[in-house]
Order: sequence, then structure tokens, then C-alpha cells
Amino acid sequence: MKTISLGLIGFGTIGSGVVKLLQDSGALIEKRLGARLVLKKIADLDIKTPRVVSVKKNVLTTDAQAVLNDPDIGIVIELMGGYEPARSFILRAMKNGKHVVTANKALLATHGDEIFRAAEKAGVNIGFEASVGGTIPVIKTLKESLVANRIKSIFGILNGTSNYIMTKMTDEGKPFDEVLKEAQALGFAEADPTFDIEGVDAAHKLAITLSLAYGKRVKFDDLYREGISEISQQDIEFARELGYRIKLLAIAIRHDNNVEARLHPTMIPHDHLLASVGSNFNAFHITGDASDSVFLYGQGAGMMPTASAVMSDVVDISREMLKGVSGLVPARSLREAIIEDIKLMPFDEIETNYYFRFSAVDQPGVLSKISGILGKNNISIASVIQKGRKQGGGAVPVVMTTHRAKERDVRCALGEIDQLDIVQAKTVLIRIEDHTF
Ligand code: HSE
Repeated sequence: MKTISLGLIGFGTIGSGVVKLLQDSGALIEKRLGARLVLKKIADLDIKTPRVVSVKKNVLTTDAQAVLNDPDIGIVIELMGGYEPARSFILRAMKNGKHVVTANKALLATHGDEIFRAAEKAGVNIGFEASVGGTIPVIKTLKESLVANRIKSIFGILNGTSNYIMTKMTDEGKPFDEVLKEAQALGFAEADPTFDIEGVDAAHKLAITLSLAYGKRVKFDDLYREGISEISQQDIEFARELGYRIKLLAIAIRHDNNVEARLHPTMIPHDHLLASVGSNFNAFHITGDASDSVFLYGQGAGMMPTASAVMSDVVDISREMLKGVSGLVPARSLREAIIEDIKLMPFDEIETNYYFRFSAVDQPGVLSKISGILGKNNISIASVIQKGRKQGGGAVPVVMTTHRAKERDVRCALGEIDQLDIVQAKTVLIRIEDHTF
């Protein structure tokens, strides 16, 4: 039986998962592949701390070059994360003719162009199923299963930590800070939790997803992004009253001439499938012009679920190696030479429904002043909630939802409303997606 040698760089949680999967399911994978996968070397700066798996001492090294320069190793699995030296290691592996598998979404979202081109130039594969949605086969779905489709839209819950926080805040009424601490203790959160709660991690995944869905080059910094750190219990309660749940949603919608792409807390109908995606789960609702709706759901992180995605790339690449071919499925769905820059819709131009929570003084004429400014800016009100009068005056929440309005008009109106004497705090704005579902 043929043998394919693997090298692993990064022996952390996911790296240990890959080793465990090879140990637990090596025989099954061997049957399915018709070849033996041998993990020849594992490089990590720390090779002393015990892991959940044990490996032979001579497999471990602190020198990544020992993996990159080993002529036997055909596939390098990069699971160290971060930008450097991960980027240099991947490029070196490719120059040395090795295929690469990585889960490094931050690197691919920001340096993907360089890496994908380098792979094509070197005639090697780059597998990155684990970089988006953990175990969920979304990369394969977009590149292979839906290859004959124009992707009309993608709505995704792409960050488990934020979803966990929003779920606990909604279902248990717990405050944001307490739930964040729980998520950190459970190990979902990134080393820097701002990446999770400010939407950076989910936006990295959106950038990668967009480039595959549309076969385009995406500049990460061009994507509009907002996190969940400003979401209050009060807005969650009003959302419930209006029949919505708030989710940190990644949105991509194809228009005739451009693509609308954004990531922000979003109110979605409480009975939509995405609203039922709780805890730290991820999900994608993809609509193709031929396929219609496709829904993918699963663990977006974690040792074994992510290792499962890594191994799926390893096996795909190994199958090509056994046939003596490479690059059967281009990294970004198209040959690199014909990939163009994505044309994103300017954020000001997007149109959706909105939720506003004004902190207004409770006195006659307030609603007419606010609605006058909204009307002047082409914003039509769909519903209004105003409750309770504060003892001794002070601000009360006035909630309005709108019909479809343009982002530019909304910003213009809120800029004016927030200057009014009767408005005592910055207005809260949460976008609503229900017309698209
Ligand atoms: N920290 C990420 C999340 C998992 O919470 O979804 C890795 O992408």
C-alpha cells in the first residue's frame, strides 16, 4: 500500500485533534483512501507540555524548517495560526512543492491573494475547509456542489462565540460581560476576544466565503463590519416583542452589477431556521439560482470538528496525489489568471429594514419631531412602541421599525435626530432582514 507523509506545524488544540483523528480513524481513512497517511513530523515551539494525544518523541521538533524541507513530506498542515511566520512557512512549503492544508482564516482573508497565486504557480493544492465554519463543509459546497449556480445570497452565523453570547443573553437574560466570561472559560473565544465580539473573526470568514461564492478577489478592509458589544438586554427584549431574534449575521447578496456584503447584528424572524441556530453553532443559508435554498449547520470550532475538516482536505489532496494530478478544483473556484476584484456595493447604498431605539424625553410632540425627520429622509415607519413614563421625567425608549430604507438616508436622519434636545442618548440602530428571507 502506498504511503503519503504529512507534516504538521502547530501542535495546539486543532493540531492535537488531527493527531487524534489519525490515531483513532487512521484505518478507516486508509480504507477510504487506499493509501496510508503517516504523520512524519510535528513542529511546535512547545514540544514539552503534555497533549491529549501522545506521539513518539522522534516525530516532534521545534524546527518548522525540518517539516518544510523534508523531501518525503507531501502535505504540510499549518495549524499555528496568526500572520507570521505562518505566511512564510506556507509560501516556503509551496516553493518546495508541498501541498498545504490550513485553518488560518485571518491569514487567508488578508493575504489569500498572495497564497492562492503562489499555490497555482507552484502547481500545488491549498486546502482550507477548516478556515470557515469549522467542521461545516461550506468551502466544498461552494466550490464543488454548487459549481453550476450563480449564488444569489448567503446569510451566515460565522462566529460561535458571538452566537453563544447572543443565545445566552436572549434565552437566559444574562448580561453580556458574564456570558463572554463563560464563553472564554469554555474555550470558544479567540485568544483576543475582540476578534470574536467585534466581528473581525466572522468578517475574515465572510471575506473567504465571498471570494469563493463569486470567484473574486476581496479586500478584507472593504467589508462593512460591526460586532455585538453594543447589544443590550433592552434591544433583545424589544426584538422579541417584534417577533425577531438578534444574530451576528454575515450577509452577501448578489445584485446585477455588484455584491452587497456586510456583517452586523441583525434582527431576523424568530421562526427562521437561522434564528434557531443556538449556542456556539455556525450555519449558512445559501441560495443558488438553480439549487434554491441550501442550509448548512454544525460546529464552527473545537478540536475534533475542526480536525475533521482538516482531514477532509488532506484526503482530497491525497486522492489527487495518488492519481498523479493536482489542482483539479482551483482554490478560488476559478483559475487565478481570470480572477478579478469584487465590485462591492457601497455601504451607503444598501437598502434594508431598520430598528431604531431613541432615548427621548417623554413630552408632547416628540414623536412628530422624530417622524418628521424620518419622513423628510424618505424613511417610512412600519411600527412604533413607546412604553412607560419615567417618574420625574427623563428619557424613555421609543422604538420604531421602518419599511425598506437606504443606509445613507438612515444615517442622515439619525445624525439630525441625535442633535435634538429631546433626544438624550445616541440612537440605537439594528438592521432587520426579513424581506430577503
Ligand atoms: N473563535 C471562533 C468562534 C472559532 O468563536 O467561532 C474559530 O474560528
